[in-house]
Amino acid sequence: MPFTLHPLTSSDVPRCVDIYFSSFQNPHSIGCWPRVASVREWWENMLYTELDEPGAYWLKAVSTGTGSGNKSPSGEIAAFAKWVEPKPGVEPETDLPEWPEGADNALCDETFGSWARRRRILMGARGHWYLEIVATDPAYQGRGAGSQLMRWGLEKADTQGVEAYLEASPEAVPLYKKLGFAEADKIDTFISNERVNGMWYRNLFMIREPPRLDRGAGS
Ligand SMILES: CC(C)(COP(=O)(O)OP(=O)(O)OC[C@H]1O[C@@H](n2cnc3c(N)ncnc32)[C@H](O)[C@@H]1OP(=O)(O)O)[C@@H](O)C(=O)NCCC(=O)NCCS
Repeated sequence: MPFTLHPLTSSDVPRCVDIYFSSFQNPHSIGCWPRVASVREWWENMLYTELDEPGAYWLKAVSTGTGSGNKSPSGEIAAFAKWVEPKPGVEPETDLPEWPEGADNALCDETFGSWARRRRILMGARGHWYLEIVATDPAYQGRGAGSQLMRWGLEKADTQGVEAYLEASPEAVPLYKKLGFAEADKIDTFISNERVNGMWYRNLFMIREPPRLDRGAGS
């Protein structure tokens, strides 16, 4: 296996923010977040704070330096993800944070607000594993790190017999479909600001059902 999974620690945060900014090159991310110091600092602070969030599992995929054609140094973080465990009986929150200086506040409010409300509508108080973020350094993409981080949470969902939920950027949809997620809804946003020259962006809301339990013949 070219990667091993470990819990993320605070010393990993700067590297993960590097991975976030280099991997998320879609118009939504570029539109929301100019790559400036104030935004970077906000992201780092959010990660430092959310490492202690109850029920959240932050994971890193670390290169072992093995695998075909691998010239990457062993021990480097290739990818990271945040999974949130089920909270049965509790509807997802829809509060939004204050955005950093330089961010497109209106776009952040519109998109992150509607994504949060959609999750609440689609999942209600049904406990589910929630994939809040996954990102792989472009230098490591296509080598299995993202799938490995995904499977970590999906195995837990399957063992517990609960759904998994995520908001999908267009580039990640094939991976999510391969892992059993299906489109539950979608939203189109027109993004136009000084960084994005007026384009439509489609975000999918995806649910993965747990496998049906085989109760055996005659039971
Ligand atoms: C989506 C993402 C996390 C996948 O991570 P990854 O480590 O590359 O994933 P894997 O190596 O397990 O690849 C899984 C699938 O992704 C697709 N994929 C991965 N890298 C790709 C690339 N550079 N170009 C096109 N497709 C790619 C392939 O369909 C691959 O399937 P395959 O095994 O049949 O080839 C990664 O591409 C990424 O960080 N993208 C930008 C951020 C993002 O969109 N995150 C998801 C937010 S919802």
